[in-house]
Amino acid sequence: MTSSSIGLKILMAVTGILFVLFVLAHMYGNLKVLAGEEAFNTYAHHLRTFGEPMLPYEGLLWGLRIVLILALIGHAYSAFTLWSRAQGARSQKYAVKKAIGSTLASRTMRWGGVALLLFLIFHLIHFTIVKPSVNSNYPADQIAGNPFLMVVGSFELWWMVLLYALAMVALGMHLYHGVWSASQTLGWTSSAKSRGVAKTTAHVVAAVVVVGFLIPPFAILFGIVKG
Ligand code: HEM
Repeated sequence: MTSSSIGLKILMAVTGILFVLFVLAHMYGNLKVLAGEEAFNTYAHHLRTFGEPMLPYEGLLWGLRIVLILALIGHAYSAFTLWSRAQGARSQKYAVKKAIGSTLASRTMRWGGVALLLFLIFHLIHFTIVKPSVNSNYPADQIAGNPFLMVVGSFELWWMVLLYALAMVALGMHLYHGVWSASQTLGWTSSAKSRGVAKTTAHVVAAVVVVGFLIPPFAILFGIVKG
């Protein structure tokens, strides 16, 4: 199934929906920064001990990580395969490349997707693998075991907020067009009414994700949330 273009599109749509669910849950979790140090650190701790002793320590987290890694492989594989097929299908370049009726969001899907992949690599190094000590206002020994201080220390730096803000705008555009495309692939846009619902859902998901993710960094930058 995955060798046919429609199979690849379905794979991209389904893995994309998984990402939307993850991103919404992650955004909700991050908003707990607003509830203060204890609430956020308790939440971060619960993520790791959830389901114990049935599950091992970090069992839920590892389950989620495996699902996300598989989804990322499927999403990127189908995107790159469809991309190279679209290029290979035409030996001569178009005289006018810009498709009529295309939006900025749709034209930036491919390179926007690559930019998001680079952001994700940076983000995992930043918060999960290395944990900030250079990119933070607080020394490494204070940050160790204190996720709240780790996040606050990073977003007290204006350039870090700027970097995340740019990434979230890219994410918003990708999500807007992605939700719309997935709706088309899955056959949810056959009537004028369902097209309207899909467009509105795409707008709402993109807006909620961008605003929801950016509230904590800006609240920290403006001193509303302090370390
Ligand atoms: C302003 C935006 C964001 C902030 C402030 C943020 C914050 C964080 C923090 C603090 C962690 C570490 C959690 C912990 O170890 O307890 C984390 C992990 C993670 N974030 Fe984000 N995040 C943001 C956006 C995103 C986006 C857009 C994605 C995906 C496209 C993402 C994907 C991940 C992943 C996959 C992890 C690793 C989870 C794990 O395996 O431990 N994040 N994020």
